[in-house]
Amino acid sequence: MAKKIPLLIDTDPGVDDALALLMAFNDPRHEIVGLTIAAGNVGLDHTVRNALKLCEIVGRDDVPVFAGCAQPLLHPARDAAYVHGRDGFGDIGYVSSSRVAESEHAALALLRLSHAHAGELVLVALGPLTNIALALKLDPTLPQRVARFVVMGGAVTGHGNITPAAEFNIYFDPEAAHVVFEAFGRFDLADWEATIAHGLHHDKVVDWLSADSARARFYAGISEKTRLWSIDRRGDYWYAADALAMAFVLEPQGAQELLERPVAVELQGSHARGATVVDWRREGGHPDKANILMRYDQERFEGLIRAALAAV
Ligand code: BDR
Ligand code: CA
Repeated sequence: MAKKIPLLIDTDPGVDDALALLMAFNDPRHEIVGLTIAAGNVGLDHTVRNALKLCEIVGRDDVPVFAGCAQPLLHPARDAAYVHGRDGFGDIGYVSSSRVAESEHAALALLRLSHAHAGELVLVALGPLTNIALALKLDPTLPQRVARFVVMGGAVTGHGNITPAAEFNIYFDPEAAHVVFEAFGRFDLADWEATIAHGLHHDKVVDWLSADSARARFYAGISEKTRLWSIDRRGDYWYAADALAMAFVLEPQGAQELLERPVAVELQGSHARGATVVDWRREGGHPDKANILMRYDQERFEGLIRAALAAV
């Protein structure tokens, strides 16, 4: 059997993070070598507790979980508890995993694992980029050891979800996103607008969630509040940003349209802080940086989710 691709996921679970993690755990070609945990959707105590619980649900208590930064690099930011629930997992009152996070800080674990898997590591960011920015400040050579870096974040034509111009992960810690975007010569970007173009019909989701598996039962519970919120606010389709990014990670061949462009993060401004400014016409003289996912095979995306939920 071919060697599995090592996957290091930085995440702030979060309901859509949880779906992405279920997909990654279910993938036979990738091996999750660690979960580094960010604050974002909710506070770090919750996101760590949620990551540990998800490992327990899939029977993977062997996967190390590392707690990262509890705050953005510079400025405090508002969480997304109004979408994901106060605990980030729909406030269902689940029993905590008996396991605790490793003592090593996420940024240090990230650097160590980048050495252990140098040249092969696929690094995935599903939350604010604080931990990765800190790791880069500790060791700017990190990108040299990363084979592929995939970021869920941004709104490439300025149709944000947390402000009119900005997407949540970038807006939560724009300085970190700036550090990370500057440090990596090239990365794959699955933004919020791609998410909106790949909605999941609520009827289908309910059907998938009826699968007879511990994963589907747990996921049906933790996602209920946010799905109801989404029906109320966004209509017939549910949008799982981190799940789309994970489909792109696991099966990049499903991408049907990709565009490479320079991208920068707006750090100032009263309307556009945290916006991802893409130089669509390449006028600024900067090199292309982001490989932007414009379109992904919808059937393949839905198939990956279905399989992840039905897995026993
Ligand atoms: C991103 O923000 C978070 O709320 C989600 O988990 C996802 O990573 C979407 O904008
Ligand atoms: Ca997330």
